Amino acid sequence: MTRAAPAAGSAALSHEARADLDFVLAWRRRWADRLYPRLVAETRAATADTPLADRKAAMPQVRAQPVYPWFAWSERASQKALWRAVSDAVAAEGPIEMPAHPRGSLTLDPGLRLPDWYTDWDIHVQPGGVWRADASARVYELGAKLVMMGDNDDYAFHSRFVETCAGDLGTPARIVDLGCGFGKSTWPFKRAYPEAEVIGVDLAAPCLRLAHAKAEAQGLEVHFRQADVTTDTGIEAGSADFVTATMLIHELPQPQLRGFFAEAARLLRPGGRMAVLDFQFTGDPVRDTAMVEHGTRNNEPFLPGMMAQDTAAMAREAGFARAGWVAFDERGKGRLPTLAWPERAEWHFPWAVLEAEMPA
Ligand SMILES: C[S@@+](CC[C@H](N)C(=O)[O-])C[C@H]1O[C@@H](n2cnc3c(N)ncnc32)[C@H](O)[C@@H]1O
Repeated sequence: MTRAAPAAGSAALSHEARADLDFVLAWRRRWADRLYPRLVAETRAATADTPLADRKAAMPQVRAQPVYPWFAWSERASQKALWRAVSDAVAAEGPIEMPAHPRGSLTLDPGLRLPDWYTDWDIHVQPGGVWRADASARVYELGAKLVMMGDNDDYAFHSRFVETCAGDLGTPARIVDLGCGFGKSTWPFKRAYPEAEVIGVDLAAPCLRLAHAKAEAQGLEVHFRQADVTTDTGIEAGSADFVTATMLIHELPQPQLRGFFAEAARLLRPGGRMAVLDFQFTGDPVRDTAMVEHGTRNNEPFLPGMMAQDTAAMAREAGFARAGWVAFDERGKGRLPTLAWPERAEWHFPWAVLEAEMPA
């Protein structure tokens, strides 16, 4: 797989910071483009006489291959190195400056107690998680931009999601983005639907502060609020035309996953729609095994559980109709018509979209 190396960082970064980031990205590229295909080839060769039935059968075989220790170690070690390099790169930046005359709003809840399941894990191995301080949000922002290895320049990923999964909403009055992070999933909705009221909700105050500051810098009127989207967002019931959540639900334990669907259903008006971007199994035993192990190695403990659940059925139990997953190809067409991905030899995330609607 040959792709141009992504430009690490911006003009504001020092030469040293850029060199560190380039090193880590080259390492991650090698892991994805060389080590993963080698793991696949070794596993296939070892199981040529007894093809693997499913991911359970695959796991011991995958782990037995000579390249496996390097593949597994490189995944976690390069992620740690990424955070080190990114933290160094943003170390000089001060607190996030709040805009003086915002068009949108930021509503924080100083009394909100962050749940233990959320604070117990340094998600994505990011030291301290995304919620501790302004620096956490800045580190997360730069890390998120770089980690997708050239697939996410200018957040094209999320724009493609909006275009292909929510490009036909007509004139929505309200759009709610649950688990909005630092806003990269929320801003494109406001760009696509400038007349709509767009609301982003997250637990992490630093991320919301950054989301708000960056929305204002782009001239986007977006409303950000701090709340737990698995309990109560504080937004009126039946008021949203569209509810979305990108890269959120694999971070939720099972009871909270049910809470998420209940809250999404509560927010939507009759006939309102939901699109949730996350991961699904591909049916390729080696790739699916690597994905389950990614949850462990990347400190995403609830990821395998979410993927193993019938989340479409959970959505139906919460009151949704026509719930089903389709594949999402972030480098090509975006939303695909079925749950099948184009062939790719290198490691990539099995992105997929759960679509559902409230009965009219
Ligand atoms: C991987 S990030 C995705 C952010 C954004 N949607 C995107 O696509 O870039 C997941 C976000 O969900 C937030 N989150 C996790 N659990 C949450 C909850 N129960 N309520 C609100 N936000 C939550 C985290 O703080 C984090 O910002």
